[in-house]
Parts: sequence; C-alpha cells; structure tokens
Amino acid sequence: MQMKHLPAAWKRGTDFLGTRYAILCGAMTWVSEPVLVSAISNEGAFGVLAGGNTPPDLLAKGIADTRARTDKPFGVNLITVAPAFREQVDVVVGEKCPFVFFAGTIPSGKDISRVKAAGLKVICFAPTLPLARRLIQQGIDALVIEGNEAGGHVGPVATSVLAQEFLLNIKEIPVFVAGGIGTGEMIAQYLSLGAAGVQLGTRFVAAEECVAHPRFKEALIRAAARDAMPTAQFDPSLPAVPVRAIVNEGTRDFNRLQLSLLAEMKAGAISREDAMRKLEEFWIGALRRAVVDGDVERGSLMAGQSVAFVKKVQPVREIIEELVAGAENALARIAGEA
Ligand SMILES: Cc1cc2nc3c(=O)[nH]c(=O)nc-3n(C[C@H](O)[C@H](O)[C@H](O)COP(=O)(O)O)c2cc1C
Repeated sequence: MQMKHLPAAWKRGTDFLGTRYAILCGAMTWVSEPVLVSAISNEGAFGVLAGGNTPPDLLAKGIADTRARTDKPFGVNLITVAPAFREQVDVVVGEKCPFVFFAGTIPSGKDISRVKAAGLKVICFAPTLPLARRLIQQGIDALVIEGNEAGGHVGPVATSVLAQEFLLNIKEIPVFVAGGIGTGEMIAQYLSLGAAGVQLGTRFVAAEECVAHPRFKEALIRAAARDAMPTAQFDPSLPAVPVRAIVNEGTRDFNRLQLSLLAEMKAGAISREDAMRKLEEFWIGALRRAVVDGDVERGSLMAGQSVAFVKKVQPVREIIEELVAGAENALARIAGEA
C-alpha cells in the first residue's frame, strides 16, 4: 500500500532493520521457524527465528532453511538461560547472522562483545532504565521494551508505562515496543512517542503460514483479552517468572508443579536452582504440546492480551497490510488530514 506518513515516522527502525516496515514478529518458541520467519520478512516486515532450546546443529539448519526461503533480513533470538546457549552463540557467530536478539536474562558483557566483534548487531530486552543504560554502554545496537500485556514470559510493568519511560529518555539507539499491540492505530501512537518500530507476537500466531496447530489458532480466535492471564508465584523462595497464557488445565498443572516443588524444597529434596529449571522445562514442554500436538487443554496457550485482535486465520501479507493501513490512517488523523 501507499505510505505517506509512515516512511518518516519509522525511518530509524526501517534503516536499522533494512526493511520496508519497522514491524518485527518477535521470536516465539516452536512457532517462529523458517516458514513463518521467511514469510514475515518476504512481506517487508522482520522475522525472528526462535533459538529456544534448539540444539546447535538444528539451529544452524533453521538458519540455512530460512536463508533458502528469503533473501530479506531476519534475526535470531537466543535465550541466555538455554542449556546450549554458548554453543548457540557459536552458531550465530559462525553463520554471521546479522541480527542477534538476547532474551531471557540480561546477557553478559562478554557475550555482547563476542557477537559485536563478529560484526553482528545485538538487540536486547531491558526491564529498567538503568539496565538499558548499562547495555548501551556495553555496545548493544537496539532495544526491545516488552510490557506486561505480552504473551509468554512477562515483566511487571505495562507497555504504556515502559514506552513513556524509555522512549522519552533513550535517544542513543533505536527502541522497539512490544506487548499488547494488535492494531496499526496503536503502532502509530508508539511511533509518535519516538519508537523506532514495534514487535508483535500473538497476532502472527494466527497467520496462515504459521505452523502452529489449527486447534491452537482456534483457541486464540475464540479468546478474549481477559482470558490471557499471567501465572502467579506462590512463594518468593521459588521465583517463577510470570507467563501470560490463555487459562486452561495446563495453567493449573503449572500451579500444582510449583506447589509440589516448594514442598520438595522445604524437605531438602531439591535445590532452588533445580526447581527453577524444572519450572522452565515445564513451559517448553507445555508450549510444544499446544503448538505442535494441538493439546489445547493441558498444553500452554501462551498469548498476549492482544489476542483480543485475533479474529481469523489470515495470510501474513493481509495481517501486515491491515497493520500498515491502520498506522497510516492514524498518523494522517494526528496530522489533521482525516
Ligand atoms: C507463543 C509465544 C511464545 C513466545 N516465545 C518467546 C521466545 O521464545 N523468546 C522471546 O524472546 N519471546 C517470546 N515470546 C514473546 C514474543 O516474541 C513477543 O515479544 C510478544 O508476543 C509480544 O506481545 P504480543 O503477544 O502482545 O504481541 C513469545 C510469545 C508467544 C505468544
């Protein structure tokens, strides 16, 4: 579609990503594989391959498969707490993947330097301004701020508050906003505040090109915003990062697992670290059950509150066109033209 306002509004983002649109489809474990990632990039947005718990050789294959499907830019997301994280870093460095996203925890200065030394761009998630400043000093190239409305593992602060905190204060590097974005109209608001671009997840799960099981997509289509809830932490002795997902029996399984691990910890039968690892393993397995096997009862239906805007299965092209048209119209309204 013809864009009048957007090219200037998100120029910093499109220049950084080398794309037509400054819209990222954030990495989603089991979901963001070569077919979806390449479809997003081929349509002018920016796909990100999910490293998740993928063994290094399969990650290399995923990168090769994506490259075979698109000559457009895409990123690779690595989770710092994944068992094979270091080997995965070796793969992205060896493969010279131009955009490396570090998720999970704050990456070490050493990991950042290693990727930067290979000439690759490093993009990080920062939960607070001081941490963002430290990462900028360590040389990262861009930030994603992800609010509590997002799907998957979430922090405590709303996207709207993070946006004001970060966009009004961080000028050194591009900042992309994620969490709860379902429409182009909302994209325009974050661009007006100074965002370089945006990252969406949930809306792209319902893409035709997405490999997620049809029952997973159907569950998203049926759900309302209020169905996508974050999990609770029962006791600070067992820190459990909240995960936002559509509530089902899988959510209750997670609660039962937390309680039994807490009892085991109290009895000295398991260490805190091992209990925390078991919680994370639960999510990887439960998400696979839902996304791959279509078990929408006991699997994890990770989704953001933006699930409110998932109305049907649509081709990636149509989703992107809707977002772009909505953003363009909203910017025209802001400019007093509509
Ligand atoms: C099913 C699912 C799996 C996700 N897995 C990951 C992941 O592996 N790594 C990551 O950094 N973010 C992950 N996310 C977060 C997304 O990349 C994205 O930031 C988020 O979905 C944005 O919020 P939205 O869902 O409201 O659009 C996941 C989100 C969903 C819905």
